[in-house]
Amino acid sequence: MSGSTLLSFTLLAVSTVVRADYFSKDPLVGKVVPYDQIPYQVMTDTDDPRGFQTGYNICNSTTENQDSLCQTMFVNHIDDFCLWAPGPPNSTIADTEGDVVAWCSKKGHGTRIIPDGAITGLQFIKTPSYIQIAGTINQAMLNIAGEYGGELDSGGQDGEGNPMGGLVYSNNFKSNNGNNASFQQAQHWSFFIGANQFCGKVCDSTGSNPQGLCQNIYDRLGCEYNAPNTASEGVFESCDGDDMTPVGTYVVDGQTSVYHQPAESVDIGVIPYTATPAPSSNCVPFTSAAIFTDAAGVTAASGASASASATPAPSGSGAGASGGSASGGGSAATKTSAKNSGSGTGSGAPAPTGSGGASAIGVSSGAIAIALFALFA
Ligand SMILES: *[C@@H]1O[C@H](CO)[C@@H](O)[C@H](O)[C@H]1NC(C)=O
Ligand SMILES: *[C@@H]1O[C@H](CO)[C@@H](O)[C@H](O)[C@H]1NC(C)=O
Ligand SMILES: *[C@@H]1O[C@H](CO)[C@@H](O)[C@H](O)[C@H]1NC(C)=O
Repeated sequence: MSGSTLLSFTLLAVSTVVRADYFSKDPLVGKVVPYDQIPYQVMTDTDDPRGFQTGYNICNSTTENQDSLCQTMFVNHIDDFCLWAPGPPNSTIADTEGDVVAWCSKKGHGTRIIPDGAITGLQFIKTPSYIQIAGTINQAMLNIAGEYGGELDSGGQDGEGNPMGGLVYSNNFKSNNGNNASFQQAQHWSFFIGANQFCGKVCDSTGSNPQGLCQNIYDRLGCEYNAPNTASEGVFESCDGDDMTPVGTYVVDGQTSVYHQPAESVDIGVIPYTATPAPSSNCVPFTSAAIFTDAAGVTAASGASASASATPAPSGSGAGASGGSASGGGSAATKTSAKNSGSGTGSGAPAPTGSGGASAIGVSSGAIAIALFALFA
């Protein structure tokens, strides 16, 4: 990763209160849904106190607009991928994690389109067992407010996923054998978005250890640990890579250990290891224009001709294209007792090791502990 800076930011997830009293008997992560058998809504539990799936999984040309509530997404190639982001403008991930919808770089998936300029840096890495994407964003252009982001994954506090009923596919797993016309479901996936950054991993269900490589139990550790990467603003690249060590697993002096984050009510303290990006190679640079070919003129706001939907989508939601400072959003952490004013992303932490990184965007693990202490104190 010559010359790349290390994107070692951390997103302080502020997930909703865990409902220990309800867990799905038919959890999302266990649902096998072939691409040609996608139902209108994949969620089946109707007794979940958290609610029911708010969007739909059958997505087509009728649902392809900036009001779309499509909850089926794809991570295919650097020029053909989607993110999860809120439907209504100016929403925190904490408030909308169960309802986020798919925003894609390309038309053809029946989703919202990622607005021009929303992604300011992007690293796409294909490994033997998963695909990882990471980058920098103008989050207001994706309806995201607040300083802190959160995790979206195929688990969720009740097994329904975040979003509830979200489905993820790819045509670019090793097991797709290069056939872009075949779409394989990823049952295990995790995304982090917020603080003007994002990352995600989608695991090949036929690859090695999809559950461990796309673990969803480390929501307080952000991208730095869940999807270690070297993305940086202004760089768009597609690479091959090795599989990372399963999230939470680390080796010291030949001894393998597994770290578990403490309960949310407990200070996270010192994380006993620093995650480093797995080796990558064959990086091919792209221009933003070559990737976002369908984004011209697209904004987050619903189009004048868009069909009405339940989504409150007033016009003029997008913040200006430039600037995009994550701090100052002010509405962060509404579901916790957060009372700090510290920004989740620090600046200028040095790259941990190797990688030849220059100045990093983000915080070191030491700073994570400090930030979390402030957040949860
Ligand atoms: C298009 O998607 C919508 C929303 O899921 C669905 O109601 C409709 O039946 C679909 N249309 C076709 C032709 O499949
Ligand atoms: C699959 O699609 C990607 C672009 O999304 C393209 O670069 C690649 O050449 C395609 N592969 C084949 C075999 O057509
Ligand atoms: C976003 O929401 C916050 C909190 O509700 C509000 O204070 C702020 O004015 C909103 N910003 C925009 C651009 O609508």
